[in-house]
Amino acid sequence: MAARPAQPRPAGDGKEDAVKGREAPGPAALHDCRVVESRPVGAYRLISFVCREIAAAARPGQFVMVRESGPALDPLLPRPMGIHDIGSDLISILIEPVGKGSGRLAASKVGDRLAVLGPLGRGFDLQKKGQAVIVGGGIGVSPLKLLARALAERGRSMRLILGFKSRDQAASAGLFRDFDGEVFTEDGSVGSRGLVSEPLPGCLLPPPEGEPAPEVFACGPGPMLSAVARISSECGVPGVRTQVSVATHMACGVGSCQGCVVAAAGGYVKACTEGPVFDAEELKW
Ligand SMILES: Cc1cc2nc3c(=O)[nH]c(=O)nc-3n(C[C@H](O)[C@H](O)[C@H](O)COP(=O)(O)OP(=O)(O)OC[C@H]3O[C@@H](n4cnc5c(N)ncnc54)[C@H](O)[C@@H]3O)c2cc1C
Ligand code: FES
Repeated sequence: MAARPAQPRPAGDGKEDAVKGREAPGPAALHDCRVVESRPVGAYRLISFVCREIAAAARPGQFVMVRESGPALDPLLPRPMGIHDIGSDLISILIEPVGKGSGRLAASKVGDRLAVLGPLGRGFDLQKKGQAVIVGGGIGVSPLKLLARALAERGRSMRLILGFKSRDQAASAGLFRDFDGEVFTEDGSVGSRGLVSEPLPGCLLPPPEGEPAPEVFACGPGPMLSAVARISSECGVPGVRTQVSVATHMACGVGSCQGCVVAAAGGYVKACTEGPVFDAEELKW
């Protein structure tokens, strides 16, 4: 796909990002947080904890670095988790247990304490006005609830498409019951059979005269993001913008270790501080 040079992205200082008119991240801090909800959602686990500061500061698409509080050194490093939802003083994360770190977090019980650093990263830019097409795959649906809520509050018309491998993952679509979403599963056990990217071309139609072009927001596995980026860039509708949230491995989450770099047109960029949300055309696919 065609790519343009990556724009320089200054470190966030809570002010407007002059390059992209995009809100830069506010201050992050380490918090000791009490778990108040822990329940299964099909293949995933929804964990909510109390943190008034992150709840007040977090923006859709940002993430937190989380580990158990306490002296345990295994695993040593926190794990990045997208912010799924925010209450007045609550943060929810949705966890897919795939290894030791996520497994330990998913085993958190009510009353346990978590060490949470955040909010981190650059979230979705919500300033455009066209129809929003939200595409989520697997655990990548997690941060899209907060996004959908923010877009709905801004009066944006929205199409929400969620894709999963199977029924146990698709149970998480129930978390989006406030929105009119479409569900796809690869095995056809829930909703329509197929890949979540399949309906996308039909969503990217020329807008009515004078209206802005549609905008795509996507979070999910790499191949899904790549397909979404390609379909959007080839749809033939001028002005379509695609924002993707990438899930790389992360060690520090704050720009120090270089462990999260992704290839962009102008070199490598750090997903933790310059992302995790990028314009699809900035990245090399
Ligand atoms: C910005 C961001 C937001 C994220 N949001 C969520 C979320 O909301 N919910 C959630 O469950 N997970 C999320 N992840 C992924 C999550 O951080 C990893 O699954 C977790 O760190 C794995 O650690 P582990 O110790 O459990 O597994 P490990 O033992 O480290 O790895 C187990 C397996 O998972 C793979 N893996 C590890 N990290 C990732 C990754 N980042 N992406 C894809 N595969 C990986 C490994 O290659 C390995 O095959 C997010 C990642 C990023 C960068
Ligand atoms: S995770 Fe350390 S630099 Fe991004």
